[in-house]
Amino acid sequence: MTHLHRTRTRTRTGAAAALVALVVLAGGCTGATGGVRGTPGAAGLRDPYFPKLGNGGYDVGHYALSLAYDPDTGRLDGTAEITARATQDLSAFNLDLSGLTVGGASVDGVPAAYNRAGGELTLRPREEIRKGAEFRATVTYAGVPEPLVDADGSEEGWLRDDDDGGGVVAVGEPAGSTTWFPGNHHPSDKAAYDIALTVPAGTDAFANGVGTERRTEEDGRVTTVWHTSEPMASYLATVAIGRYETGTATALGTVPVLTAAEPEVAAESAALRAEIPAVLARQVRRFGPYPFSAAGAVVTEDGTLGYALETQTRPVFPASSFDRTTLVHELAHQWFGNSVTPATWRDLWLNEGFATYAEWLYAEEYGDVPARTAFERAFREKANWAFPPAAPPAAGNLFDPPVYQRGAMVLHKLRETVGDETFDEILRGWPEERRHANATTADFTAYAEETAGEDLDDLWDVWLYGDEKPDAP
Ligand code: ARG
Ligand code: ZN
Repeated sequence: MTHLHRTRTRTRTGAAAALVALVVLAGGCTGATGGVRGTPGAAGLRDPYFPKLGNGGYDVGHYALSLAYDPDTGRLDGTAEITARATQDLSAFNLDLSGLTVGGASVDGVPAAYNRAGGELTLRPREEIRKGAEFRATVTYAGVPEPLVDADGSEEGWLRDDDDGGGVVAVGEPAGSTTWFPGNHHPSDKAAYDIALTVPAGTDAFANGVGTERRTEEDGRVTTVWHTSEPMASYLATVAIGRYETGTATALGTVPVLTAAEPEVAAESAALRAEIPAVLARQVRRFGPYPFSAAGAVVTEDGTLGYALETQTRPVFPASSFDRTTLVHELAHQWFGNSVTPATWRDLWLNEGFATYAEWLYAEEYGDVPARTAFERAFREKANWAFPPAAPPAAGNLFDPPVYQRGAMVLHKLRETVGDETFDEILRGWPEERRHANATTADFTAYAEETAGEDLDDLWDVWLYGDEKPDAP
């Protein structure tokens, strides 16, 4: 999806142009169709932690996913229809997909050759795609999805609940979405989604956004369709399948709220689920307009999912994590992470530091615990000083305490440096400035300095990039 702020990782036209020039030089004649000869899109976007995630040469605008799932066998039958625009002349391009079996691929309705190597699925269309052209890639695939085990030991992907009739919760931060649909799985390429879920009658199914359709298939299975109109990074796509009890409400006057909880945890989670409109109303006052046209939550029994995740419009929670603080955290991510999305995984503190600071602000405003107290508590904790928030040493450290707690400490120091009024302006202005786009750490520091009208290098050097713990909080 094209947005205002293109990120550095995606503008690599220089290298592409050089390659084309080389090919033209080497090949001389450019073939029967004439014009410039295309080259394959890059197999990865060179993310500092996941160099192979994402792919070069195109920008996805829309995913239409049709997913049929059989809870008895765990088999998923999928069709992904990906509408994208070429950002170079393409002879071939990659999609990311882990596991599963590809049954066929086409581009603009014409069968395309495809090849798989590791997590890369390469499509070679019969006709080259011209730079700037919109095209539709269709991939059919099937199999029993295998979860990914992250570098930090946690599981993500299509997580199956074996104790409970084979239900599923699918989560994807940072790479789990590659286990259930092919795509451009890097946060820098956000897109709109329609997710159609076909499941046996009597089984419930949910995804992000607004439910737009419900139909019974000839064989009795039931299909529901879920529409996400605002740009979404693939790591924020979710699916929940199983037995659920639902709750509905309206937030902020117009936003439909849909919550779903497994029957075993429906009663205990009902009161907090009903608080979502109130929490959002409080957050709108601090962070500006809610960026999405739907809201809600999915609450599952413990055991399937090891952590809560801010999946777009409908965060998911294992029941034991469904407390007010975590709810505030995951809802804050709708602004910080989901609307303003990190340009690379190195910029993750822009998600976790802000969502953690949102907890501190909430406790200050509604729980009588000054943010300064939370800040000092975090300052004393040794684990928070393992590395600077803007420079996790490895993929296995992305979700470690410094990204969350030291990230929030940066924001508190910023607030103390520029004053409450300017800080409020930054907190509200940043998600407006980068609404539905991507951002780097440098984008944020520049924005903060511009808003404050002062150079803040000393602050960043010590609190954002510094290895040493300062003497005083
Ligand atoms: N982003 C989630 C949160 O709200 C945490 C995700 C943890 N993922 C992981 N692979 N460890 O904090
Ligand atoms: Zn978080």
